[in-house]
Amino acid sequence: MSDTANIDNAVTEVNDGVVQEIHSIEDTDTASDFELKHTPNVELEELASGQLIKVSIGLKGIAHPQTEEHLTEWIRVFDGGELVGEALFGPNDEPVASFEVKRSDSQIAVQALCNLHGIWEARL
Ligand SMILES: [Fe+2]
Repeated sequence: MSDTANIDNAVTEVNDGVVQEIHSIEDTDTASDFELKHTPNVELEELASGQLIKVSIGLKGIAHPQTEEHLTEWIRVFDGGELVGEALFGPNDEPVASFEVKRSDSQIAVQALCNLHGIWEARL
């Protein structure tokens, strides 16, 4: 598996070279329920050494399914385009994760992969 990423060009390469588009929403007020339920919900907590990034899937209380047929498979955190954290999920897991990252001036991006609907990103 390859997991190179290029945040600036909004493409990523995952799973044996299959390139997928990264979806993101501009405005939660105009986003559809489909878009809201796929977008990572991110909470930040300041730590002395950096930041704690708490991630769940779905905005505005719209939950994404987590079943054998349709699920969030992973959540990844990128700092300046570099992968700094990853959590994997199966159908019996709750797709939530916390990542501790060092303070950085680079942009943090959080991505989640839905097995049916691709990669969804939130930028901090
Ligand atoms: Fe989905």
